[in-house]
Amino acid sequence: MPGGLEACIFDLDGVLTDTADLHFKSWRRLGRELGYELSPEKNRELKGVSRAGSLDLILKWAGRELDAGKKQQLMDRKNQWYLSEIENLGEKDQLPGAASFLDQLDRNNIPYGLGSGSKNARTIVKKIGLAHRFKWVVDGTDVQKSKPDPEVFVKAANLMGCKICNTAVFEDSVAGLIAARKGGFIAVGFGTDSNLSDHADFVVENWEKTSLDEIGALIAELN
Ligand code: BG6
Ligand code: MG
Repeated sequence: MPGGLEACIFDLDGVLTDTADLHFKSWRRLGRELGYELSPEKNRELKGVSRAGSLDLILKWAGRELDAGKKQQLMDRKNQWYLSEIENLGEKDQLPGAASFLDQLDRNNIPYGLGSGSKNARTIVKKIGLAHRFKWVVDGTDVQKSKPDPEVFVKAANLMGCKICNTAVFEDSVAGLIAARKGGFIAVGFGTDSNLSDHADFVVENWEKTSLDEIGALIAELN
């Protein structure tokens, strides 16, 4: 197998599809109800952060404190808006080259799974037409602890029966890369954010600019 790579685990949001703007619209709407204007810069800090973690940050930035019941209400409301935002997601919303990368894994008999912090991951992966390709899915509904805790990836690796140190996790968020590293995985940053490289074994910019051979070679260099 290329570079000793045994298996891959993919984050969903920002790695297989781009939902960041849809989350942003819904959080901004909620923020406005609280008299707080969420900026695109602050929104970037929410990347990879769980729904509850995101609300806590927004409340902190807004200088608000709310009880658990009210917070649950707000999260439910935000999610209703988010669900209507993702309503029209389709195959067109797969990140370019993602499906061909999965093809390369299939051709090389390298198993792969999904490790997403989103409670909507199963809905989204179905909408973008990739559900049939993922035999192993662990999402925000399956874990007790959110990224940067490695639980979501460790659970996926356990389902897949793969050796963690030979499994690459593809992640666009710092929280997810910290989780991957804490868990002992090969942490592959995905995207162009300058802060990824501090937390990743290496970074790939997008699926069209890489290949399984290249990733195998980069992994081989780590050993
Ligand atoms: C992550 C996103 O994948 O999922 C975060 O990067 C989001 O922005 C988190 O907050 C939780 O998503 P959801 O769908 O459970 O609200
Ligand atoms: Mg992500």
